[in-house]
Order: sequence, then C-alpha cells, then structure tokens
Amino acid sequence: MNIPSFLVERWIGKYEWTVPYDLAETGVFPLKVEELYALDSTLPERIAACQLDYGVNTGRTELRGAIAEMYQGKSADDILITHGAIEANWLLMHALVNPGDRVVCTWPVYQQLWQIAAYLGADVRKWDFRRDTDFIEIRKLLEKPTKLLIINSPNNPTGVAFTREQLQTLVELGENAGAWVSCDEVYRGLAYDHHAVAPPLTALKSARTITSMSLSKVFGLPGLRTGWIAAPPEVREACLRFRDYVSISSPKISDLLAETAIRHRDKVLARNRQLLNRNHRLLTEWAAAHRDVVKLETPQAGTTAFPEYLAAMDSETLGRRLVEEQGVLIVPGFCFEVEQHFRIGYGCATEVLQAGLERIAAFLKPIS
Ligand SMILES: Cc1ncc(COP(=O)(O)O)c(C=O)c1O
Repeated sequence: MNIPSFLVERWIGKYEWTVPYDLAETGVFPLKVEELYALDSTLPERIAACQLDYGVNTGRTELRGAIAEMYQGKSADDILITHGAIEANWLLMHALVNPGDRVVCTWPVYQQLWQIAAYLGADVRKWDFRRDTDFIEIRKLLEKPTKLLIINSPNNPTGVAFTREQLQTLVELGENAGAWVSCDEVYRGLAYDHHAVAPPLTALKSARTITSMSLSKVFGLPGLRTGWIAAPPEVREACLRFRDYVSISSPKISDLLAETAIRHRDKVLARNRQLLNRNHRLLTEWAAAHRDVVKLETPQAGTTAFPEYLAAMDSETLGRRLVEEQGVLIVPGFCFEVEQHFRIGYGCATEVLQAGLERIAAFLKPIS
C-alpha cells in the first residue's frame, strides 16, 4: 500500500533550513533548554542523572499527572503520552478506523487528519466549515452512521476556533451518528481579541470525546516531541496496542523537560502570549494596509493565518517565487487543496515576520 505525500511536510522540508524569512513554521519561536532550566533549579541535575533506558510505555506517571491537571476530572490514567500529536493522530486513526467506515473531518485542515483515514480505506467526507457557519451541511453529513468525527480547533490553516457551544453541538451531532468525536487541539491555549479559549473537547458532556494535543505549538517546544491523547480507556488501550509497534516509549529526557514546562505553564504561556499578541497585531495591521493584494479573515486563536491573494498566479508558483525572489517561505494553498491562498505561521521572531510580510506585499503589489 502506498500513501500520498504529506504536502506541507514536503514543501517546508525543501526550503526551511536555508530561507532567511521562514513564515511557514507553525509553532511559537521555540524555547531553549536553558529557559526550562530557569523554571526549576533541580532540573539540570535531574537531567544529568537521568538513566537512558526505555521510558514507561504509556509515559511517566508524573508527566501524565501534570497533563491531567489541565483536564478537569481527569487523572494520570486517562492520558497516553505520544511522540507529538502526529503520533497521537496516527494511533487514533489506526485504533478506530476500518475500511469502509465513514469518517467526517473539518476542512481545510492539516492533511494528516483526513489522509490517514483515507489510506486506511475509510469513506472520508470533508466538511468545509468556513462555508457552513449555520451547521446545515454537517447535519446532513452526520445523518448516516459515522465512525469518527475529526475536528481541528483552533484550525490549521485558518486560525478559526469553535466556541464551546459549537463544539457541544458537534459532539451531539457526532454522538447521534454513533461516532467517536476527536479534536486535534495542538493550537489551543491562546486566543485573540474578544475570543475565549474553548475548553478541551473531553471537558464536554459526553463519553465519546477524544483530545489529541502536544507541546509543539502554543508551548513552543516542538523539539521535545511530547504529545498525548486524552480518551476513554478502550480507545487508549487500542492506541497503546499500535504504539507498541511504532515507538515503544517516549524519550525520558523529553518527559522530564515536558513535565517542567507543563508545571510552569503560566510562565511559558505568558512568554508566548506576549510574542503572539504582538505578531497577531502586526499581521492584522499588515492585512488592513494591503487590502489591494490580500484578504484576511483575522485568526481567532492559534498561530496560523490563511490569507487569500488577488494576483492571478497558482499558489505553488507564488510559493516558489517568494522563496527564490524574496527569501520568504510561506505554505502555498495547494498543500491544503485550496488555491488563491497561502498559510502564514506568525509565531516566529517579530523582526522575521515584519520583514517577511513586507516582502510578500512588495512581491504581490505589481502583479495584483
Ligand atoms: C493540526 C496539527 N496537528 C498535529 C500536528 C503535529 O504536531 P506535533 O507532532 O509536533 O505535535 C501539527 C503540526 O503542524 C498540526 O498542525
């Protein structure tokens, strides 16, 4: 069996190590190990003394306990540690989806979230949530028995975040269709303007909700590769059966650093909030100043935006020419199956974002 290329990964991987203005990354400008050491004076010693055997398959109890504190009513036993949210999603799909199952997924979205289900032989239905604000289409999609409803909120690439009420409606619709309802929440934690951070899906009233999450985005710690699943026992156990074949356990050093970041999340998120608030403002001011070349739905949460551009050029050519002529890396819309758009990750250093945005506008002006 073969699987189509993961377009975002292939695109970014081609350019990211050489381009001067990288607006393709989706995490917050990453922390250094020394910044985590500064949060807990015992950490350097514990890292030095860490014996490098395999870790616990499900993840260290202390780490799972720290994570569980972020989920009301959950304990360490409700959490399964994974190698980033990417493994969490991979495990969930393999655990839940069989050939012929109906799977409904928010769209446009991170390709992994529907591609794995399609690869496994599911009947995948993409729900274009941007064009269905009254939830009419999703009701129709969920009229038939469904195995899994996959939500990504806040959404990559658009930065749209569902409210608590919207999530509750989706959970009810999914449950009525007999589905597990899973939300990829890697961009959850920071919201802008009047938007509130919605609760994790597993906090809603339902026995069939699942959350996948990681420290890669709003925490700014993608290098730890620490992710997790919060889910009912039968789902976690099915995921663990696959995990034993894929990654066995997570690196013990990462577990220690991750636990510190989570226990001190107020400080970590305060650092990241400051950067993101500044960059979000810069991005919205830029879009307002350049309405003649781009149209932007202001992102409500997370770290990504998905502007539409007016120039008559396919998105792949736009992306390639921006790299070659302006030294700016964005992700072209074709990686999300949406033309006339490009994705910006605005969690980078403010100077990089500012220079990158100016160059994009300078490139688009003469051709729009
Ligand atoms: C929606 C979404 N889920 C999961 C991931 C994977 O993140 P990680 O494995 O670093 O947690 C990404 C990365 O861009 C993403 O955008």
